[in-house]
Amino acid sequence: MGRKTTLFLIAGVLGAYSVYTPLPDNIEEPWKLTWSTTQMKMTMNMALFAELLGINHLMSTLMFLLNFAEVPPTSDENVTVTETTFNSVPVRVYIPKRKSETLKRGLFYIHGGGWCLLSAASFNYDFLSRRTADRLDAVVVSTNYRLAPKYHFPNQYEDVYNALTWFLRRDVLEKYGVDPERVGVSGDSAGGNLAAAVTQQLIEDPDVKIKLKVQVLVYPALQALDMDLPSYRENAYFPSLSTSVMVRFWSEYFTTDRSLEEAMLSNQHVPMESIHLFKFVNWSSLLPERFKNGHFYNSPSTGSSELAKKYPGFLDVRASPLLAEDSKLRGLPLTYIITCQYDVLRDDGVMYVTRLQNAGVQVTHNHIEDGFHGAFSYNDMKIFYRMENQYISWLRENL
Ligand SMILES: *[C@@H]1O[C@H](CO)[C@@H](O)[C@H](O)[C@H]1NC(C)=O
Ligand SMILES: *[C@@H]1O[C@H](CO)[C@@H](O)[C@H](O)[C@H]1NC(C)=O
Repeated sequence: MGRKTTLFLIAGVLGAYSVYTPLPDNIEEPWKLTWSTTQMKMTMNMALFAELLGINHLMSTLMFLLNFAEVPPTSDENVTVTETTFNSVPVRVYIPKRKSETLKRGLFYIHGGGWCLLSAASFNYDFLSRRTADRLDAVVVSTNYRLAPKYHFPNQYEDVYNALTWFLRRDVLEKYGVDPERVGVSGDSAGGNLAAAVTQQLIEDPDVKIKLKVQVLVYPALQALDMDLPSYRENAYFPSLSTSVMVRFWSEYFTTDRSLEEAMLSNQHVPMESIHLFKFVNWSSLLPERFKNGHFYNSPSTGSSELAKKYPGFLDVRASPLLAEDSKLRGLPLTYIITCQYDVLRDDGVMYVTRLQNAGVQVTHNHIEDGFHGAFSYNDMKIFYRMENQYISWLRENL
């Protein structure tokens, strides 16, 4: 068999495998989702194949390809877009051109991409931030941060924290015409993880005098301890985010050593001496019945302490915000959490809603029954505009 034939066969198998995507009946515009996720899966499979051949790290290939979807900081008739650095962290700033008598709201946005991919310049994030600035009449700061596999935890977290605390300086807010009483933080997926983590840190930081009014978490990742939640079981093969991809993202956040990923996949990465932490992510006590959905709670399994010694990040509250004590949660600002039914991360968000409510924090929970992970980035689909309208109206009312 010739080389070309072999490659053709491989491409054919990868292609056929990629097209098969069974979707739930209540997904709106299923063809659009099938089309986007098929392209995504084909790209993923090729990148995995290149990694298998030892050509390139999975995330480096994906990062290279996603660079083509970046757009320059172009101002339009309604919004001025510029790039600068906050505490040496590169950010993109969106300022509404509309003149106003009063100071504007400020929203600090953190993009998703599994701590490995995407940026403030990615088309979807530029689109969202520009529209948020215009519709909310807010100054939006969309931050970048260093990514894995080159940089691991806590670099991502620290970059975001450094940029946010810079924005919260009185002189910086004044320069951008932002009301210090009306600043919020928002992020999706890994960005929701970072948003929750920095918001927790901020309430304990005596050096930061200006505090956040709200936090918005869009299908956030909030814990790396239990990969066997009902939402992981039910959506393990959902085309926009599978368990295997999510576990890869989580493990890459801490290390490129694949042994952590392996242990996470079998849910045996938490050492015996940390078993007490499972109470913070106990879905049997933290999920309402409808999300438990008849699933059986297995007592957590544990593994060797080697991994946790080498990569303590996954047990760190700055990476797994669900590990915070109630006494800490109590000080959190007004919170808006969006979860999607078809999402391995659904139960992370739902458990955080319960934990915040138990701690007396005001939370609005918007669960989207026909939603799926990534919907907030699919701006060619109706569901994006529905979610965006709900997001903007909540912010209009509360920020
Ligand atoms: C600018 O705002 C106007 C009025 O709201 C709107 O019709 C127009 O589409 C906006 N332009 C852009 C580029 O978003
Ligand atoms: C989890 O919660 C259930 C029900 O509340 C309880 O029986 C179980 O002991 C808890 N397990 C852990 C590890 O916290």
